Amino acid sequence: MVMTDLGQAPLAEAVARYAKDKVTRFHMPGHKGGTGASPEALAILGRRAFELDITGVEGLDDLLQPTGVIREAEELLARAFGADASYFLINGTSSGLQALILGTVGPGEEIIVPRNMHKSMVSGVILSGARPVFVTPEVDREQGIALGVTPEKVEEALVAHPKAKAVLLISPTYYGVTSDLAAIAALVHKRGLPLLIDEAHGPHFYFHEDLPPGALRQGVDACAQGAHKILCSLTQSSWLHVKGERVDRGRLRAVLGVILSTSASYLLMASLDLARQQMVRDGRAILTRTLELAERLRNGVRRLPGLTTFGREYCSRAGAVDLDLTKVTVSVKGLGITGQQAELYLRYEHGIQVELSDLYNVLFIVGPGTTEEDVERLLKALAELVRENTARAVRQIGVDALPPIPRQVITPREAFFAPADTVPLVAAKGRISMETVTCYPPGIPILCPGEEVTPEIIEHIEFMKENGYRIQGPQDGGLTRLRVVKE
Ligand SMILES: Cc1ncc(COP(=O)(O)O)c(C=O)c1O
Repeated sequence: MVMTDLGQAPLAEAVARYAKDKVTRFHMPGHKGGTGASPEALAILGRRAFELDITGVEGLDDLLQPTGVIREAEELLARAFGADASYFLINGTSSGLQALILGTVGPGEEIIVPRNMHKSMVSGVILSGARPVFVTPEVDREQGIALGVTPEKVEEALVAHPKAKAVLLISPTYYGVTSDLAAIAALVHKRGLPLLIDEAHGPHFYFHEDLPPGALRQGVDACAQGAHKILCSLTQSSWLHVKGERVDRGRLRAVLGVILSTSASYLLMASLDLARQQMVRDGRAILTRTLELAERLRNGVRRLPGLTTFGREYCSRAGAVDLDLTKVTVSVKGLGITGQQAELYLRYEHGIQVELSDLYNVLFIVGPGTTEEDVERLLKALAELVRENTARAVRQIGVDALPPIPRQVITPREAFFAPADTVPLVAAKGRISMETVTCYPPGIPILCPGEEVTPEIIEHIEFMKENGYRIQGPQDGGLTRLRVVKE
């Protein structure tokens, strides 16, 4: 058997060949390689995108049951990451997380998850009917951000819930902070359970020694990665890896058949194949440069009065063992403005878009496409931001004590399908919430679907509202009313 070389991109090459051969297309999609697309569509999107936008035709395999070039590309992907099996995803990392939940827990079964689980994990829990058992992440109150979870808290959850079927955690966080996955894997495996990781923000960890070790290298059983977030594939393209036997691969493949589209985009899949090829071939050099640029940005920020940022020294605290140095979190707290104000200023005064902002911080992702000029431009803009804002009183976060996690009366799935009532917030006391309510900072939900609305929770929401904090989740954005289960 001839093994395909890791430097090749068999799927992307097959797609390009199909376009080059100018095959007469009596198949979907309707634009037939662009000839049917409007002049506006061609002008805006470019003809090449249409030429390459094909579907599962003869010789191009089937994402849901791959036996040809997709399988070959997925095998190369697995080899690149040291996984036993890897799967292309065309519905984002979200679909990978949903697949991991559906692939490991069923209705009424328990899964241990972080309280600040991503929205797609909530969807996965609703789809599967599982009962979430929450582990609260650590919080840095100074910086106003949630960190990872500690092995001690995972162990507590494992002891309290001996029937749990799986553990699904996030590492790294959006801000690049990683948890002690090796220690957690040992605890989880002691009970014969799989440890699954939302590694949406860590696919590059496998290609540079100055980045934290990847989840698969720490004994984790499966992880979903946002190739499009950090590497150079197209938005919405992601992948999923499995290692070892604790995750049933047959079941996982079947689940992917349930949740992925039957019309997988070959543009997305080709971009995944090429992103893997690029990392294997040039990843180390690309990431060396990326890390240098991020360090230059970090050092420049440190020279600006009123701004602070952090490096690896940040990670000597609970829930933070290492840091992805390509992420640069800048606190603008010392300028007396919010992160959101800084984001708008950078966008509209300087044409610079940040990744995210919160009460105190703006987050910059330095990536393979970042240039020296970009970093210099950003530093100049930040210097101006500093000049224009003399320090005012620093606003303190009033989230020292989040209300205790309330009683879970029914599963999120039962809450999702229950008949609804929308009631004034004050009248929601004792009712079962159908919604998630998350206050920022620190971005940890105080209420999840299926949980009892306690007086402490109402009080906390009122306090956060009065003090102008951002609250996300409920249909009523102003949170005067809450959707609860009808009595
Ligand atoms: C931690 C985390 N997990 C999962 C996701 C979902 O990824 P995707 O947008 O690729 O579906 C995100 C998206 O931002 C995320 O931040």
